[in-house]
Amino acid sequence: MRTPIQGFSKLSKEDKINWIADNYTDNSETTKEILKQYWNVDIGLQKLHDEFIENTISNYYLPFGIAPNFLINDKLYAIPMAIEESSVVAAASKAAKFWLDKGGFKTRVIGTQKIGQVHFIFKGSSTKLQSFIDAIRPILMNDVRAITRNMEKRGGGISSIELRDQSDKLDNYFQLHCTFETLDAMGANFINSCLEQLALTMKREALTYTPFNEQEQRIEVVMSILSNYVPECLVKAEVSCPIQELVLEQPVSPEEFAEKMVRAVNIANVEPFRAVTHNKGIMNGIDAVVLATGNDFRAVEAGIHAYAAKEGIYRSLTHASVENGIFKFWIEVPLALGTVGGLTRLHPLVRLALEILQKPSAPELMQIVAAAGLAQNFAAVRSLVTTGIQEGHMKMHLLNILNQMSATEDEKKTLIEYFKKNSATHNSVVEALQNLRKNS
Ligand code: MEV
Repeated sequence: MRTPIQGFSKLSKEDKINWIADNYTDNSETTKEILKQYWNVDIGLQKLHDEFIENTISNYYLPFGIAPNFLINDKLYAIPMAIEESSVVAAASKAAKFWLDKGGFKTRVIGTQKIGQVHFIFKGSSTKLQSFIDAIRPILMNDVRAITRNMEKRGGGISSIELRDQSDKLDNYFQLHCTFETLDAMGANFINSCLEQLALTMKREALTYTPFNEQEQRIEVVMSILSNYVPECLVKAEVSCPIQELVLEQPVSPEEFAEKMVRAVNIANVEPFRAVTHNKGIMNGIDAVVLATGNDFRAVEAGIHAYAAKEGIYRSLTHASVENGIFKFWIEVPLALGTVGGLTRLHPLVRLALEILQKPSAPELMQIVAAAGLAQNFAAVRSLVTTGIQEGHMKMHLLNILNQMSATEDEKKTLIEYFKKNSATHNSVVEALQNLRKNS
């Protein structure tokens, strides 16, 4: 019978491991071995990881791979990706190479504005509330200056503070809807600190604002928090070429391929069941770069999916067209990213990933990430409309199956060669390995 534990966070790492091993796993010794196997031999580096979060007992590794040959706005990149799914880096690399001699990816940042809101309850006249917010705007800006000063020196800060009346949706509900420019920082801490100060100032000033009656003077702040929905922190990436350049190794003509691509994207644009999977493929590329560069992939995911549903139906994030003999394929995504602050300075692999990317500014990173998402989607849809997804996917998954069956290096070499010409399924791989072992 398991019992709750008090003060787990205060236990030493060793005691936390003993407790989890003794209470929640079948074999306590194996548990300890597995956990310690992933500790870093460099004590300083391990301590760094231990202190990223609370209750660290080990490290969780993901493969860190490189997708080379990304030509983005005429500059060549090798893109670091952190991801466990076997086919993703290969697919991104293949798409990057495909577009390399066709002009590569053209990208452009459409906007960099981020959003934060103070949500509050106000019982009274909304006209008086608007006059109050207009009157205290200089005080709001002044009180928050201690936080914004450095950002302002570099050209960022609070761009606007707007009162939004939401009382038609929820009784007495209003917001200070604020926009921010956070330059190369993702800016979550900056935005949240600003919002909390704005909320305090607003509440304080309301208490002595004489046009308000007593009830109006008591503004109730519910919460102050950034929004991960950033439709104005937007980037576009595009590839295009004359149709006749769409030459594949598969027996499909360039015209037929272009038509199939456009049709597949149009399906994802009108059919949410397909759109979710289509966009998941895009997120394979986006998340992998976001993670490798130490950014918050949950924030990015939440914001992007909300953007995909902005018209009230969940749609494709990519678009495709054929016009005047030109095939065009593009993506528009909101991406709130940072290349300074957070993990970017602390985590050695994140630092290295940014160095490999030639130390990009946040807007440059937005463009790289968008290109990775577009490449991933191009590769996935290309497979789907030609060979089907399983051929490439199973080839990449082959090593996972062989490793599960403890294949030797020689066995792996033989079977990788064999499955270049034969179609791989889980059963066919198992069977081929058994036959190989029988015959040797
Ligand atoms: C698999 O991780 C991603 C795909 O399902 C994406 C798609 O269907 O477009 C292949």
